[in-house]
Amino acid sequence: MRKKSIQDIDVHGKRLLIRVDYNVPLDSSGAISDDTRIRATLPTIRYLLERNARIILCSHLGRPGGKAVDSLRLAPVAERLSELLDKPVAALRDCVGPEVEAAVSGMRNGDVVLLENLRFHKGEKANDPGFARDLARLADVYVNDAFGVSHRVQASVVGVPNYLPAVAGLLLQRELDLFADLLEHPERPFAAVIGGAKVSDKLAVLENVITKVDLLIIGGGMASTFITSEGFRVGASRVEADQLDSVRQIEKKAESLPVTLLLPRDVVVADLLEAGAKTRTVPITAIPEGCRIADIGPETVHDFSEALSRCRTAIWNGPMGIFEIPEFATGTRQVAEAIASIRGTTAVGGGSTIEAVERFGFADRISHISTGGGAVLELLAGKPLPGVEALQDAMPELMEKRA
Ligand code: 3PG
Ligand code: MG
Repeated sequence: MRKKSIQDIDVHGKRLLIRVDYNVPLDSSGAISDDTRIRATLPTIRYLLERNARIILCSHLGRPGGKAVDSLRLAPVAERLSELLDKPVAALRDCVGPEVEAAVSGMRNGDVVLLENLRFHKGEKANDPGFARDLARLADVYVNDAFGVSHRVQASVVGVPNYLPAVAGLLLQRELDLFADLLEHPERPFAAVIGGAKVSDKLAVLENVITKVDLLIIGGGMASTFITSEGFRVGASRVEADQLDSVRQIEKKAESLPVTLLLPRDVVVADLLEAGAKTRTVPITAIPEGCRIADIGPETVHDFSEALSRCRTAIWNGPMGIFEIPEFATGTRQVAEAIASIRGTTAVGGGSTIEAVERFGFADRISHISTGGGAVLELLAGKPLPGVEALQDAMPELMEKRA
């Protein structure tokens, strides 16, 4: 069921509490090293400014553990947002309480404030109803524009909608529409490229996407468990013994469905997973004792790239190797290039996958770089997002009007 959005309600003069995901990466000096998540909320904020709403933004930053941590204050984010909007954005020193209430009640139409880090209060993560009610007191309407946090059962995500009319922002709507479209109506052939460290993190994703795609490509650390299940030794690589049955099920399912499952044929191994390590490329049938798999090999890259070149849609989550270390980056870089070269729709989700796409310079050739990590995995696993479930359903007649 489609959710009600800010486009379905009258926002003029209203106080809107907007949950955004300003959990941005900070460099060692505390400066924002990537402002993508801030920019991604501009359409919603501009839409509301054009309609003279009063905008109260709230977010978490990092994991401060329920107490104020100076290095995780949101003031630098307010400053960056103010530059992007070219108007003042007040950073408040807290997110609930009398001072915040006073500041908010003094707001005029078109004003923008950013509340302090929600996770400075224990009530946020605990989804405490009292904390949710304190947040709700600040506004007339709640807006979720925080796709990246919508899988979290936390007060500002699922609690506040119990106390206020709750609707979706434009970013949330866009991300949901895009993934729904990709998974339900992909132009075929449709590929999913899944990597990353652990099968257990991605099992639900594999089980769901295998029923949707024409091509399933598996790389990264998790491939070791697949290679083991094929009967080969993986040296000192980490194998999830408790996932071997699940992996066999996935392989069996791929055989019974019209899906091509591609696994690494050769790999780059090293004694140590660190910069400067001596590397060797070996077939998966001859992985030396004591070595660890650090990347996919050139023949595998060839297989993956050729298969991807025939696809019209691809989603990617999880790197092919330890790409942060130059010696082990080639597989991830070349798969990124293969995905970027697809003539069709491509979507990338997950913090480290996005980092890889950006580092190797392919971001502007990907159709959709998601703002979500964990939230994308939930969608790919076919699971509902609690933060979306908590919003009001759109009226069918409104959906028709907008269609
Ligand atoms: C993210 O960066 O993945 C989101 O902001 C959620 O953050 P969390 O994993 O700390 O809940
Ligand atoms: Mg995370």
